[in-house]
Amino acid sequence: MGTVISVVSGKGGTGKSSTVVGIGIALSQLGKRVLCIDFDFGMRCLDLLFGCSDTVCMDCMDVMAGGCSLSQAAVVHPIHKSLFLLMAPVSIPSALPVEKLNALVSCAKAAYDYILIDTSPGLGVSFQSACAVSDGVFVMSHCTIPSLRCTQLTANSLPHTIPAHIILNGVKAKQLSHFPMTIDEVMDYVGLPLLGMIPNDVHLFQTTSDHFLFSPAHKGACAAYSNIARRLTGEAVPLMRFA
Ligand SMILES: Nc1ncnc2c1ncn2[C@@H]1O[C@H](COP(=O)(O)OP(=O)(O)O)[C@@H](O)[C@H]1O
Ligand SMILES: [Mg+2]
Repeated sequence: MGTVISVVSGKGGTGKSSTVVGIGIALSQLGKRVLCIDFDFGMRCLDLLFGCSDTVCMDCMDVMAGGCSLSQAAVVHPIHKSLFLLMAPVSIPSALPVEKLNALVSCAKAAYDYILIDTSPGLGVSFQSACAVSDGVFVMSHCTIPSLRCTQLTANSLPHTIPAHIILNGVKAKQLSHFPMTIDEVMDYVGLPLLGMIPNDVHLFQTTSDHFLFSPAHKGACAAYSNIARRLTGEAVPLMRFA
């Protein structure tokens, strides 16, 4: 039975989509079968990060409407053959039918080890629908006071029944050393435990779209995605050092 994880944030641009693809690739490299679902209705982009926009025809609304099966709509990653993508529609639905969403997720849980849901920024339909079917939530944040306050508000809006973690993205060593809070204080402020810290990595775009650069030996964001994937599978992996 697969595990469903939603990657959310109140603010846009915190690295949700990159992290979904990064952790997805890292989990697939650990031998897991992974489905990434794009729930960023209208603003979808995972097809671009997968490098497969020309092969995507059907989306999650087509599956929920019964127009095709999940296996017909899911597109395999061009390089990582146990990583799949189910796209969002180009239009924004006002709501998602709960039974159809549950049916889609049950089907995905039966066929994949991990289902990673990429969401739209904010607390709207995308966030609410994703949280309603998730076993866990990762809240993405930059390590800045405005981003952390937004993360705190997002954390307060999560259903209390789902385990949630914060992931700090785009972290720079210099920024951490000058930041007015320690990591413990950040966790207290947001009210969530920290799952990982992803460094600011100028090579990120190439890394997520090129398998040769996506190596855990690479010291940038990919190493952090790989650490998070290993923690997800139960391994005790120490936090990346930035000093
Ligand atoms: N760790 C990182 N280091 C450098 N750039 C990053 C990092 N994470 C994301 N980015 C960049 O930030 C931008 C927003 O990332 P994206 O994943 O699209 O965020 P979101 O899905 O939350 O809007 C993209 O240009 C992406 O390449
Ligand atoms: Mg996104």
